[in-house]
Amino acid sequence: MKKKRFSIKVKFIIYVTLLIISLVSLILFIIEKREVNTIFEESKNKGFLIAKNIADLNLKPFLFWDKKGIKENIEKQIDNKLLYIIFYDKENKPFVATDSTKNFKGIYKSSYLKGNITPEHRYFNSLNLKKNGKTIRVLEVEIPIFAGDSKSKWGSVKIGLSLEEMYMEIRRTRLILLLLGGGGIIIGIISAIILAQRITNPIKKLVEGTIKISKGDFTYKINITSGDEIADLAEKFNEMTSKLLKSKKEIEEANKKLIQAEKLASIGRISTGIAHEIRNPLTSVKLNIQKVLNDANIKDDEREHLGIALEGINQIDKIVKDILDFARVTRLNLDEFSLPSIIEESIKLISNELKGKKITIEKSFESNLPTIIVDADKLRQVFTNLLMNSIEAIERKGKIKIIAGAKNRKFVKIIISDTGCGIPSEILPEIFEPFFTTKSSGTGLGLANAKKIIEQHKGSIQVFSERGKGTTFEIIIPRRPK
Ligand SMILES: Nc1ncnc2c1ncn2[C@@H]1O[C@H](COP(=O)(O)OP(=O)(O)OP(=O)(O)O)[C@@H](O)[C@H]1O
Ligand SMILES: [Mg+2]
Repeated sequence: MKKKRFSIKVKFIIYVTLLIISLVSLILFIIEKREVNTIFEESKNKGFLIAKNIADLNLKPFLFWDKKGIKENIEKQIDNKLLYIIFYDKENKPFVATDSTKNFKGIYKSSYLKGNITPEHRYFNSLNLKKNGKTIRVLEVEIPIFAGDSKSKWGSVKIGLSLEEMYMEIRRTRLILLLLGGGGIIIGIISAIILAQRITNPIKKLVEGTIKISKGDFTYKINITSGDEIADLAEKFNEMTSKLLKSKKEIEEANKKLIQAEKLASIGRISTGIAHEIRNPLTSVKLNIQKVLNDANIKDDEREHLGIALEGINQIDKIVKDILDFARVTRLNLDEFSLPSIIEESIKLISNELKGKKITIEKSFESNLPTIIVDADKLRQVFTNLLMNSIEAIERKGKIKIIAGAKNRKFVKIIISDTGCGIPSEILPEIFEPFFTTKSSGTGLGLANAKKIIEQHKGSIQVFSERGKGTTFEIIIPRRPK
């Protein structure tokens, strides 16, 4: 069976409510006890005072045993509070009593039947009496009567006071206390609910956030501004998730790189194998064609055909060379070079390709650019590849701009941009892939090779292009690789 589960909020409210109820009940109980005691004490004192008054007023007739005089006096005093009065003689026998005593049973006995009674003696007792079938709570008070300095008791007077009024007052007090207590409990419970809400809302948010994050949403931020331990926890949680997000991205990136590297390695293995197999027969074909061409006896049209065949062979040769270049894993041959001079050399290498097109090359090299430590041959390959692409992208007329300068104290930046045909955005992510080409005579290894070399230098290469407007390549490399 599933155990019933209470939320922290409900538990908190239940505990606090129980606590408040027990506290309020305890306080009420104590207050009530004291209040009832005080009221009872007051009634008792009042009773003694009345009894003393009656005794004093009737002292004279009592000393003369004037039964009639006393009776007349006391009969007048009976009302619904003072229920009865009884005077006792020396022998504790009822001497005079009000008529009202007939209404009650068992009240005639004096309480001073034995013992040594002094003037200070006070007797009181609360009892239930029946009057016309109705129970009345009564406080009986008896005091002794002493005449002058006499050492022995002359008699005593007992009165019966109705406690109904006192109980009414007690009931009223109880009601007020109950109302106060109830109000206190309600206020307490409301406060507990508000407090519980305040405490548990951030916890709820935290739990919701944790669930979201556990489902893989690492971008979720828990927003708690309560400024307490929960807020601290949420902050730490957010820190943790952003770290998780970062490592997740890093892992993904590393994975991608690993897959790419694997891919490149297998492409490399396969293509080098093929390239090697092709190279020897190709060289022999090439040599044989050249041999035939050297023969002066062949006809002009035969010479032309052989020339075309040789061109084709040369192209295959270039492709094979490109593949071998790309696939070969070589260590960088690092040395100190001037970046502008490497660029200038690259421009010289492609100057032949500029023929037949109206292309201006604009150079902007930062003056006093410090030397860099690179593999100049490889870097030259990168620049010539990029410049070749730019030339090929420009149909007849255009501009190629080369900017070189410091990016910051540790890196240099080279920008090569052209006003060529641009690259459609849908193929932009693929242009660095090996063998990706849109050209009929291209191998698609130029940019893949460039990227490989830049990454070997611990740098980066980025492309920005807009169809019809032109293309910009941005290369960043460290001045000295680690
Ligand atoms: N500057 C550029 N302007 C327009 N398109 C470009 C530019 N540079 C590269 N490209 C596009 O990227 C593709 C890949 O370029 P990459 O240099 O890798 O191969 P390629 O030039 O086609 O062949 P090759 O191996 O002979 O260089 C190109 O086919 C071309 O579509
Ligand atoms: Mg190219």
